[in-house]
Amino acid sequence: MGATYDLSGRFAIVTGGAGGLGRGIARALLDAGARVELWDVSAAALAEAAAELGEGVGIRTVDVTDAAAVDRAADAAFSAGGGVDILVNNAGVLGEVKPVWETSPENFQRVLQINLFGAYLVTRAIVGRMRQQAPRPSRVTPHPLRGHVVSIASIQGKEGMASAAAYSASKAGLMALTKSVAKETAQDGIIVTAVTPAAAETAMAREISAERRADILGRIPMGRFVEVEEVARMVLWLSSDECSFSTGGIFDLSGGRATY
Ligand SMILES: NC(=O)c1ccc[n+]([C@@H]2O[C@H](COP(=O)([O-])OP(=O)(O)OC[C@H]3O[C@@H](n4cnc5c(N)ncnc54)[C@H](O)[C@@H]3O)[C@@H](O)[C@H]2O)c1
Repeated sequence: MGATYDLSGRFAIVTGGAGGLGRGIARALLDAGARVELWDVSAAALAEAAAELGEGVGIRTVDVTDAAAVDRAADAAFSAGGGVDILVNNAGVLGEVKPVWETSPENFQRVLQINLFGAYLVTRAIVGRMRQQAPRPSRVTPHPLRGHVVSIASIQGKEGMASAAAYSASKAGLMALTKSVAKETAQDGIIVTAVTPAAAETAMAREISAERRADILGRIPMGRFVEVEEVARMVLWLSSDECSFSTGGIFDLSGGRATY
C-alpha cells in the first residue's frame, strides 16, 4: 500500500486516456476519489476503457489536434465537472522509427501535431478556463489552488534518441511548454509540471522491434521498464495538493537513465 491522496471532489481530464498509461493514471486518480474524464481520438478504445475503469469515469471523443473540438470539449468538461481541477496531457504517438533522412515530412508534422501542438491546444483551453474559476483552499498548505496540469513527456525529450527525432523533439517541446506555462500561471494557484518516463509496457512500446527494445532496456541502469503504476503514482502526487511549490518542474522516471 503506497501513500494515499485525497482527491475527493476533484475533476480530472486525462487526454489519450484510453491508452495504456492513460488508463493507469485514470485508475490512480479514481482510487484517490477524483472523477475522471478520458479524452481520446478512439471512440472504441474509450468505450473499452470506461468499461474497465467503471464508476466515476466519463468519456469524450476528442482529437487533441482540432482546436475547435478541444474548445467545445473544454466547455463541456467544465460544465460536467463544475470546474476542472486536474489536466493530464498524455495523448501521444511514437511515429516512424527511422533515421531522419529516411523519415517522411508528413510523419514529422503528425508527431509534432499530436504530441506538442495537441498538448498546447488542450493546455490553452483548460488553463484559460481554470484561471477564471475561484481558488479553493489547499488541503495541505495555507495557499489556495486553482488546479494542476501534468504533461507526459519522455526521457527521449531530454536525451534525444536515434531513429526518433520527431518524437524526441516533440517531447523536448512539451517540456519547454510546461516551463513556460508554469511561469505564466505561477501567481494563479495553477501548478504545471511534466514527467519524463523511460519505456513502459504499453501499446507504444510494442510498436518497436526486439533489437530496439533490447537497446532501450540496456540504457536503463535499473535494467527494467517502468511500471504503468509507477508513472501513475508520480502523476497522482503531481496532481494533488501535496505538490504545491514545484511548478515548472520536470520529474524523472527513468530508472537512473537521466543525467539531468
Ligand atoms: N509507453 C512508453 O514507453 C512511454 C514512455 C514515455 C512516455 N510515454 C508517453 O506516454 C503517453 C501515453 O502513451 P502510452 O504508452 O499509453 O501509449 P498508447 O498508444 O497506449 O496511448 C496513447 C493514446 O493516445 C491517443 N491519441 C493518439 N492521438 C490522439 C489525438 N490526436 N487525440 C486524442 N488522443 C490521441 C491514442 O488513441 C491512445 O489511446 C504518450 O504521450 C507517450 O509519448 C510513453
